[in-house]
Amino acid sequence: MTYSIFPTSDGSNTLYTSQFNASYHSVHGALEESKVVFIQLGLQYLAERGYQNIRLFEMGFGTGLNAALSFQYAGQHGLNLQYTGVEAFPVPTDTIHQANFSALFAAPFDETFLELHRLSWNQDHLLEANSHFVKWQTRLEDFSSENKYDLIYFDAFAPECQPELWTEDVIQKMYNLLDGNGVLTTYCAKGIFKRTLKKVGFHLENHPGPGRKREITRAIKM
Ligand SMILES: C[S@@+](CC[C@H](N)C(=O)[O-])C[C@H]1O[C@@H](n2cnc3c(N)ncnc32)[C@H](O)[C@@H]1O
Repeated sequence: MTYSIFPTSDGSNTLYTSQFNASYHSVHGALEESKVVFIQLGLQYLAERGYQNIRLFEMGFGTGLNAALSFQYAGQHGLNLQYTGVEAFPVPTDTIHQANFSALFAAPFDETFLELHRLSWNQDHLLEANSHFVKWQTRLEDFSSENKYDLIYFDAFAPECQPELWTEDVIQKMYNLLDGNGVLTTYCAKGIFKRTLKKVGFHLENHPGPGRKREITRAIKM
């Protein structure tokens, strides 16, 4: 597996992996994409609806950018965050350091970013202020849980690169993981994907995307 690091249009770096012939974020702005698609459309949305304790599930811990931005947002807004991420192919730590993602965070959250990488896999960690963090080193297909979540960041590689993660079975699994009124956010707004979301029972909202992205998706479990 080889990774390369390259800058995106907003100045933040992302990674490219030859394994999936895919980049980890939008080439039009990695930080911007994470903030708009996951923080604003998901975490901020729930916070504005009065959620104080938010159980978050992320498909693809990856660089940890979404995870650390979520802890930053939670810390700045007095939320308790219980983060669960799955990751089948952890990025080597030296690649994470070389990409200098921690420079994207205001202190002390630059340190939080690095800590999320230092913490062991497959164990629940208590962070400050009733916030929990666990990253499972597993394929999504092999993950199961009795827990329910309020929010899912569905951040798989694009359907062209990884069609096996955009199937009805996987979307049904995401639906089942959510509690009532739970929310799934993703950068993908493809017609076939949206039809599948509707078919398993989600209510859909289309929102303008960051940068050049016309549309992104918020799906709500009714
Ligand atoms: C688009 S990247 C996610 C970026 C990440 N959310 C971030 O903030 O950097 C997709 C991630 O899913 C992981 N992945 C790919 N196939 C997977 C699978 N079957 N199960 C779990 N993770 C998988 C990849 O290794 C990669 O880290």
